[in-house]
Amino acid sequence: MSETVMSEERVKFVLDEPDIPTHWVNLMADLPGEAPPPLHPGTKQPAGPDDLTPIFPMGLILQEVSAEPEVEIPEPVREVYKLWRPTPLYRARRLERALDTPAHIYYKYEGGSPPGSHKPNTAVAQVYENAQAGIRKLATETGAGQWGSALAFACRLFGLECEVWMVGSSYDQKPYRRSMMEAWGATVHRSPSDVTESGRAQAEHTTGSLGIAISEAVEVAAQNPDTNYSLGSVLNHVLLHQTVIGQEALAQMAMAGEEPDVVIACVGGGSNFGGLTFPFLRRVLRGQAKTRFLAAEPAACPTLTRGVYAYDFGDTVGLTPLMPMYTLGHDFVPPPVHAGGLRYHGDSPLVCGLVKQGLVEPRAYRQNETFDAAVRFARAEGIIPAPEPAHAIRAVITEADAAREAGEERVILFGLCGHGNFDLSAYDAYLAGKLEDPEFSQADLDTALAHLPEAPALV
Ligand SMILES: Cc1ncc(COP(=O)(O)O)c(C=O)c1O
Repeated sequence: MSETVMSEERVKFVLDEPDIPTHWVNLMADLPGEAPPPLHPGTKQPAGPDDLTPIFPMGLILQEVSAEPEVEIPEPVREVYKLWRPTPLYRARRLERALDTPAHIYYKYEGGSPPGSHKPNTAVAQVYENAQAGIRKLATETGAGQWGSALAFACRLFGLECEVWMVGSSYDQKPYRRSMMEAWGATVHRSPSDVTESGRAQAEHTTGSLGIAISEAVEVAAQNPDTNYSLGSVLNHVLLHQTVIGQEALAQMAMAGEEPDVVIACVGGGSNFGGLTFPFLRRVLRGQAKTRFLAAEPAACPTLTRGVYAYDFGDTVGLTPLMPMYTLGHDFVPPPVHAGGLRYHGDSPLVCGLVKQGLVEPRAYRQNETFDAAVRFARAEGIIPAPEPAHAIRAVITEADAAREAGEERVILFGLCGHGNFDLSAYDAYLAGKLEDPEFSQADLDTALAHLPEAPALV
C-alpha cells in the first residue's frame, strides 16, 4: 500500500439516484412578454396543437405549449434515467493548471450515457409519450449520429421501431455511429436517400444537411398513421427535457460552494445549451443571480452571430411550421464541418429569443481553433470531447485567459455534452494539419436569405 496521502482537492461532485430531478424546468413561464407563435406553413396563421397531431403525440404537444413553470417527469422515464443519471460535475483542475488561470472551471459531463451524449435525456421522454399514445414507429434525422443513436437506444427500451435519416457527410465520416444505431435495432438511411420524395428532390446535395434529413423523416411520419416524427433539438419540449442537466448542475455547484459567473454551452439547435442554462437563467430572470451566458457555434454555420431574426421553416423542403428564429435560410447547406450536430440553419426559438433580448451572448469559432481547444482539454482532463462541445471549450479558454489578464478568480461552468470517441477521424485530420476552415461569406448569406418564406416581420 502506498503511504501517499491524497489531497483534499475535490475533482468530482456526484449526486445519488434519488437526486434525479422529479420535474423539468419550463423557462417559458418566466420569460417576459409574449413569445411569437409558430405559424402554419400554408395559412401562415398561428399553428395550434391540432396542426401538430399528424407527427407528434398529444403528451408532447401539451409539453410544447405548456405555460406551467415545471412539468412532472413520468416515473418510467426517471427509471430509465437511472441508467446514467445523475451525471457527474467535474472541477477541471488540470485544465486550470495547464491554462495557468486563476479561473475555477467546472464541467457537467453528459458523455456517460449509453449513446455518449445528452440526447437520451429527451429521447427517452419522447419515446415514452409515443409509446403511451400507441405509436409503433418513430422516424428521425441525425446529424452527428448522436441523436439517432439516442433515439435508437430509447426505442429499443420501450419496444418501438426506429428509422433514421443520417446526414450524408456524417454517414461517411462516422460509420460506427451507424453500427451503433443498427446494434440497437434501428434502420439507417444515408440522406439524401431515394426512399422519400424529399430526398430524391435534393439528390444533388450529396453531403446532405440536417434540413434535408428532417424533410425526409417528417414526410414518412406524416404519411403513416402508426409512425410519428421525433426531433432531437430546437423545439420547446426537447429543451424542457434537457433541463435535468442544469438542475443537477445547480445542486452540484452548491456542493462545490461556488456560483458560476459565466455558463457556456455549444448550440446546434439549442438543446444542451437550454438544458444546462435554463435553470440558471430562471434565477437571473427572477432577480436571484447575475450570471452571463455564452452560446458557442461554428463560424461555418453562424446562425446566432450572422443569421437574421425571421420566421423560417425548420426543414429544407418546407414541411414544418414556420418558427421565429435566427436563420441562415432553410435551404442553406452548411459545409461538411466535423461538428455535424451544429450544422443547422436555424436554432431553438426560445434560445433565439434570449439572444435577441441580450440575455445570451453568441460566439462563433472556426474548426482549427476549436480542435486546438479540444486537444488541450483532452491532454489535461483525459476525456476526448465531441466536436460540438469543443466549441464551448474554445469559449471557456478565452474566458479563462480573460480571468488571468484581469487577475480575477472567475467561476466558469460549461457543458461537456458528449464524448468524441466516434469522431477520431476528425481528430486525425486536425492532427495531420488537414482540417479546413470554411468561411461563411456575405454571398452565402445573401443566397440563403433570398428564399425566406413570406411571413410577418419579427421585431
Ligand atoms: C454531442 C452533441 N452536442 C451538441 C449537439 C447539438 O445539438 P443541441 O444544440 O441541440 O445540443 C449535438 C447534436 O447532434 C451533439 O450530438
